[in-house]
Amino acid sequence: MCGIAGYIGNQQAAPIVLDGLSRLEYRGYDSAGIAVFDGERIRMAKAAGRLSVLEKLTDSGRALPGFCGIGHTRWATHGCPSDENAHPHMNQENTIAVVHNGIIENYRKLRAKLEKKGYVFSSETDTEVLAHMLTEYYRGDPVEAIEKVLHRVEGSYALGIMFLDHPHHIYAARRDSPLIVGVCGEGKFIASDVPALLEHTRTVYYMENEEIATLSDEHIRFYSIDGELLSKEPVTVEWDVSAAQKDGYAHFMLKEIYEQPKALRDTIFPRLKGDRIDLEDLGLSEEEIRRLSRITIVACGSAWHAGVTGKYVLEELARIPVETDLASEYRYRNPICEPDSLVIVVSQSGETADSLAALRDAKARGSRVLAIVNVVGSSIAREADSVFYTNAGPEISVATTKAYSCQLAAFYLLAAKFALVRGTIDEARAKELLSSLKKLPDQVQELLSAPDELSFLANRYLAADHVFFMGRGIDYAVSLEGSLKLKEISYIHSEAYAAGELKHGTISLMEEGTPVIAVATSDRIYPKTLSNIVEVKTRGASVLALTTPDHRDLSQVADHVLFVPKTDPLFMGSLSIVSLQLLAYYVSLGRGLDVDKPRNLAKSVTVE
Ligand code: G6P
Repeated sequence: MCGIAGYIGNQQAAPIVLDGLSRLEYRGYDSAGIAVFDGERIRMAKAAGRLSVLEKLTDSGRALPGFCGIGHTRWATHGCPSDENAHPHMNQENTIAVVHNGIIENYRKLRAKLEKKGYVFSSETDTEVLAHMLTEYYRGDPVEAIEKVLHRVEGSYALGIMFLDHPHHIYAARRDSPLIVGVCGEGKFIASDVPALLEHTRTVYYMENEEIATLSDEHIRFYSIDGELLSKEPVTVEWDVSAAQKDGYAHFMLKEIYEQPKALRDTIFPRLKGDRIDLEDLGLSEEEIRRLSRITIVACGSAWHAGVTGKYVLEELARIPVETDLASEYRYRNPICEPDSLVIVVSQSGETADSLAALRDAKARGSRVLAIVNVVGSSIAREADSVFYTNAGPEISVATTKAYSCQLAAFYLLAAKFALVRGTIDEARAKELLSSLKKLPDQVQELLSAPDELSFLANRYLAADHVFFMGRGIDYAVSLEGSLKLKEISYIHSEAYAAGELKHGTISLMEEGTPVIAVATSDRIYPKTLSNIVEVKTRGASVLALTTPDHRDLSQVADHVLFVPKTDPLFMGSLSIVSLQLLAYYVSLGRGLDVDKPRNLAKSVTVE
């Protein structure tokens, strides 16, 4: 999704803004632009394509001298990716420049009104209405003009604005699209995400919905949308710079796959107090846990896949009925929220528009909302009743790996705790689960020490048109995630099926050489999955199977077998997924694709 970076201070703004934008590249974009006040005018440069095009155009920012600037990477929603549609957008007099993340939903109506008044538009974007509306309402006080505009727009926005009349100022505002303000000595920054600032500062202010900020050489001030001055405290971001750098790895995705043992340790161990799981900060009393009648897990993408595993684990251990729903469906389906139900919203970024809307809907219906979130201070974290932070650290690659793994761990901890409190498992089983949990990071480490086999196996898929994944139970949940990993970064069509469903349609697609990846780690249903593997083999499929060393017999059926170490059956997904992540990585690499920034995708989907 779009990225925003802005700087005001005593250093050249353009190189800092371009650097900030480069740190946000992972969010996905298709054009970029920058505006800098050069002492007389606001000068602008924009270009479709990668940031490197803009860097070339501006001689790495040197062609745009000045101490105050804003920049943007655009992920097209209204209007194709082009130089004209790239941000910033300026008014006709070139006195106001705007960068915007989000969508102005009533822009057609606003544009028609402005055109009637004689304003001439030079782009197809919804954002340009803001530049002209600001002109319409500006009477010398930028904050007043911004308030007036914001009262008239519907939709979401994170905004960075410059007024030529107030050259040493950046104005910012947000509603439903993240925006932070950073400070480091003389330098002040705006950014849509923390990694854009880490090089300079870890002291940030999180802007809340419908707040306006002014950054000048002297001060940072915050106002409500009604002009009331607000007092706000900065917070220190825990992440360090190296966490957002590649550290010698070829890609962020590979680095993040290898960071999984640490991320898991950081998520699991702070929750263990001796033989107990400590979830006290979630504010759920034992009585409330015992009374839980239903859990609804709501999320998007991989976080939803983590929720599919969460359902299996929570139901199995805590015996609470669980449903897992896509946030984009949940928010529009008039869901039933019973008094003793719990809604768990899962999100790496904490900013996904659909997940945030689902959270608000659940709260409005009286549900208690627990969020499993990675980004501290994100919107979902702030609005949920309680937060289980996954401590995966910053995740840059669009394809999530370590955050997903930590979401699984969060579900294991919740399920084991809920089960013990509800008396659905005994102390001995709880101990067994904890002991397996503690070993998980080392087992992932072990899997990561043998990537060569996967790099070799990946060659089998380089020319594939489709790949079918299948599994049952937790193996199915992992198949969903493995399939998504492969399709999003290799552009190979791939779908995951509950193995038992194959014969209800999909098996008609099996022919000589059809690639199938079968996950068959669960002892309990192994014979069933084995039958499904035999069924597709009989029809000519080429099968790569994942199983545990207990099922060596699979080598006689499948074309290739990958062995995954054993853990508690409920936690097997944490181990099988590692091989599938590496496989997807090597297929993408082998096809010469942009592993970290797959086309059309965004890391954080802050618009609907
Ligand atoms: C995007 C990302 C996925 C992610 C999904 C949900 O599609 O590319 O990796 O799973 O959004 O994001 P969230 O931040 O809510 O986990």
